[in-house]
Amino acid sequence: MQNIKDVLNLESVGKTVHLRGWVYRIRTSGKLTFIILRDSSGMVQLLSSARSLKEDEHKELSSLVIESSMEATGVIREDKRAVTGYEVELSSYKIYQRNDNFPISRDLGEEFLLDNRHLWLRSREFSAVLKIRSTIFKAFTDFYYENGFYQVQPPIMVSTATEGGSTLFKVPFFGDEVSLSQSSQFYLETFIFSLEKVFTIAPSFRAEKSRTRRHLTEYWHAEAEVAWVDNEGMMEIEERMIEYVVSSVVRENEEELRLLGRDVEFLKNIKAPFPRIRYGRLMEMAQEWGLNLKYGDDLGADEEREITVHFDKPVFVTHYPSSLKTFYHRPDPDNPDEILCHDLLAPEGYGEIIGGGERIWDLDLLKKRMVDYNLNTEDYYWYLDLRKYGSIPHSGFGLGLDRLAMWIMHLDNIREAIPFPRTIRRTKP
Ligand code: 4AD
Repeated sequence: MQNIKDVLNLESVGKTVHLRGWVYRIRTSGKLTFIILRDSSGMVQLLSSARSLKEDEHKELSSLVIESSMEATGVIREDKRAVTGYEVELSSYKIYQRNDNFPISRDLGEEFLLDNRHLWLRSREFSAVLKIRSTIFKAFTDFYYENGFYQVQPPIMVSTATEGGSTLFKVPFFGDEVSLSQSSQFYLETFIFSLEKVFTIAPSFRAEKSRTRRHLTEYWHAEAEVAWVDNEGMMEIEERMIEYVVSSVVRENEEELRLLGRDVEFLKNIKAPFPRIRYGRLMEMAQEWGLNLKYGDDLGADEEREITVHFDKPVFVTHYPSSLKTFYHRPDPDNPDEILCHDLLAPEGYGEIIGGGERIWDLDLLKKRMVDYNLNTEDYYWYLDLRKYGSIPHSGFGLGLDRLAMWIMHLDNIREAIPFPRTIRRTKP
């Protein structure tokens, strides 16, 4: 058997090819039937006629319905009128499964397509999304291996919160209770004392009640933690990583990006370095743009959309007031009301895709911050131990891969960027 893409070339013309896949379209005029066959690599037109098949075989093929599965053998020739410029005149075939109908046709509602996501995955659009996601995950991993990082596997069932108790999912656990991990950060911090540079890709869980276009309850989180690196050093790694991932997608998936209507030239211009703007300065800029924002305001999805339409590259926002972020961020020694952290906001209205920064590495300060946040320091004994034995300056970040995918593909909603979205209202299919 061959892949369709591998036979769509002049060298194959005149040869017999063996293909298998699914009926994408079918059109018959009685004597001639044209079937568009698709596989994971592409599509090709098959021609069925009583010329090279028996009359009853031709009839059987002519009555096929889309998404039936089949095998096809025939001679390939060039045909400018055909979908991908080639046509295979069938000499034999095998039907694996004959469908009576297929529930999905064009112009169906959003909810119907979400209920039938398991079937919608086969559409050309969603196949393109899946191929691009695959490149994003691979490129992220490749980048970190090429830069001397180790991949590690933290647990998913945990007994500590990293991002606040309000978005924790609780799970019964043999008469007790555990939570689903919101972030692998604290565990990644444990690994740097042996490996120095580590990363992981794992699902994170947030009991998010917000119904924005960018929130999931289960999302894919790519996180890294690095010894001896400060906030600036961390941003330098991240911007190179984003450039690497975006340029890999442009290289590997130009066809899929165009199919989705993405402006590929825009992505080609995503090159490091990215601008860095202090939170305080950003608030002044926001006021100049006429936005109703002042120092101390949190940036939600709406505010970030209004800010990032002004940028054509991702932008780092640094030095947030410590009141806006959680307890583990390291205060700026020059101005302890602000912290040495950053968010990376994607342009074109997309907003935050990364949160990161320097971690507090002084034991007493960390304990104090935990008490301020009403956290039970005993639950975090292992996290505090890291500050007792050979503590070092270090930084890290977390990247929402579904948000990154959503921006790269310029999709309207994060649900379109992940195969089986989990939101406050959806756990099926
Ligand atoms: O900003 P967050 O909450 O930061 C952390 O979890 C840190 N502990 C990460 C770290 O430093 N290792 O989340 C990081 C990123 C966000 O920038 C966003 O891209 C994504 O995770 N994210 C979500 N993506 C989809 N749905 C949600 N509900 C998300 N919440 C966060």
